[in-house]
Amino acid sequence: MTTQTKGIAVVRTITDLRATVATWRAAGHRIALVPTMGALHDGHLGLVRASFEHCDRTVVSLFVNPTQFGPTEDLSIYPRAEAEDIAKLDAIGTPLLYAPSADIMYPPGFITSVTVGKLTERLCGLTRPGHFSGVATVVTKLLMQVQPDEALFGEKDYQQLQIIRRLVADLDIPVRIRSVATVRDEFGLALSSRNKLLKPDQLAVAQQLNRVLTEIAAAIRAQPDQVRKPVLDGLTRLQSLGFAPIDYLVLVDDETLEQLDHFDRPARLMVAGYLGPTRLIDNLSL
Ligand code: PAJ
Repeated sequence: MTTQTKGIAVVRTITDLRATVATWRAAGHRIALVPTMGALHDGHLGLVRASFEHCDRTVVSLFVNPTQFGPTEDLSIYPRAEAEDIAKLDAIGTPLLYAPSADIMYPPGFITSVTVGKLTERLCGLTRPGHFSGVATVVTKLLMQVQPDEALFGEKDYQQLQIIRRLVADLDIPVRIRSVATVRDEFGLALSSRNKLLKPDQLAVAQQLNRVLTEIAAAIRAQPDQVRKPVLDGLTRLQSLGFAPIDYLVLVDDETLEQLDHFDRPARLMVAGYLGPTRLIDNLSL
């Protein structure tokens, strides 16, 4: 059953999803998929807007994927705001929201998962075991369900983006992965649904994170052979601001995500750390 809310249609089953996508396909449209977990902000909407530039029709998926949350992570408190999400998507002209239930995504008997080797073992993979396997599995399923020409992902989740590029290449999935630059607030804080969990004093600290990253990046560019010192100084600075613990602050190869001690190729400065119970991530291209 398809529910029509003003311009946007909402489907909740694979059959209904495929029926709509098939009519678009028959009309010769280029189709985009924007996977999300909802609680949409301007970062998500930036992906949807980017899809309009490159494709004729866009499916946004909304599914808070239980398999990518660890046992101690925030699945139960993850923000949910479906009615608001539908209104926001409708306001910018999104034609279709696919919002399956967990039973549709993981029916009884489901036992398959997608694991993407080394790329998932570093950075966030060290402290969030199983997380990227959950992401890789659900993204593979979404790609098979929608079969879009393009799927769009944010650079905000840079490790996730590289893992998805890898799995699409390795599994010969015929889709173009398009990345979209991180959308930030006026202080440079990357928009995230987790920002809503920050207390006002924590928000003020979070809003300094990007400036610290920018300073580290400038120091690395000035002395490409001396990566360690600016990174260690940056770590101390973030600790003194109140980030604790800091899971990582590291310069990596922008494709393999291997740690670099010399800035001698395209690189990315990656950070993850906590303010109180809230884990924030960010990254910068060098
Ligand atoms: P979610 O955190 O909802 O993010 C959905 C998409 O929005 C991701 O591609 C993410 O990188 C992008 N995004 C989030 N904040 C952004 C920002 N400030 N600027 C630009 N893009 C931003 O990432 C997930 O959901 C899930 O892991 C998912 C891929 C949907 C699989 O469950």
